Amino acid sequence: MKKVVLSLGGSILFPTIEENRVAAYADVLSRIAGRIQLFVVVGGGGEARRYISAAREIGLDEALADEIGILVTRLNATLLAGALGDSAVPVVATNHADAYAAAASGKIVVMGGITPAQTTDAVAAVLAERAGADLMVNLTSVDGVYTADPKADPSARKLDLLSSDQLLDIMGSASLSAGANTVIDMVAAKVLKRSGIPLLVIDGRNPGSLEDALLAGRYAGSLVTKDGEKPAALL
Ligand code: UTP
Repeated sequence: MKKVVLSLGGSILFPTIEENRVAAYADVLSRIAGRIQLFVVVGGGGEARRYISAAREIGLDEALADEIGILVTRLNATLLAGALGDSAVPVVATNHADAYAAAASGKIVVMGGITPAQTTDAVAAVLAERAGADLMVNLTSVDGVYTADPKADPSARKLDLLSSDQLLDIMGSASLSAGANTVIDMVAAKVLKRSGIPLLVIDGRNPGSLEDALLAGRYAGSLVTKDGEKPAALL
């Protein structure tokens, strides 16, 4: 069975606590699960950022602020695992080895963050490498990878297909401007480059897009491959 690791942004799953996409994603993920081994790494979203700001305001160090962010990602992950019921391993994994081992059950493996000074994109990329995944998918709130930040540069264009080196170049230049928001974290991009695992970046605001991509091979985002060549099939 093919293996896919998803980095599911907290802001995608929980635009707000009240209006979240947990049930919608649980539906889609359960439908895919019988055909593909899924690992889902859930992010912290706005709630994590609010907790981290509160931690900084009271003078806590960055590492403790990160620990608090990790707790929020695990809280989000626990809600998704609960919503998935029998389709998922009920315990949220707290390290890569446990996540990898839990996949032997054939159920969806759900986890959040693991260690300070990174984001859940990096967790997902390392898990993809550890699990020998065929693909990593980043579900985010932009529709793909752009040549530059489209908000700052009107000439920025979306790339349908790019190499892992091109992705690193784009991210390297983006990080020069303070506050720039990159689609994936740098550690994740480097891990994917060394492992050669392809990355699909798609807009996660419509959960059905994931099903279209994984089950029908139809997607509108950006595909990052080792050499920038289009593979015969996504999976
Ligand atoms: P996220 O991965 O959610 O970061 O982790 P993000 O970039 O805000 O992503 P979205 O908005 O969910 O898409 C939230 C915070 O938790 C801490 C970091 O402080 C991060 O900014 N964290 C997360 C860690 O320190 N280590 C981890 O392994 C994961």
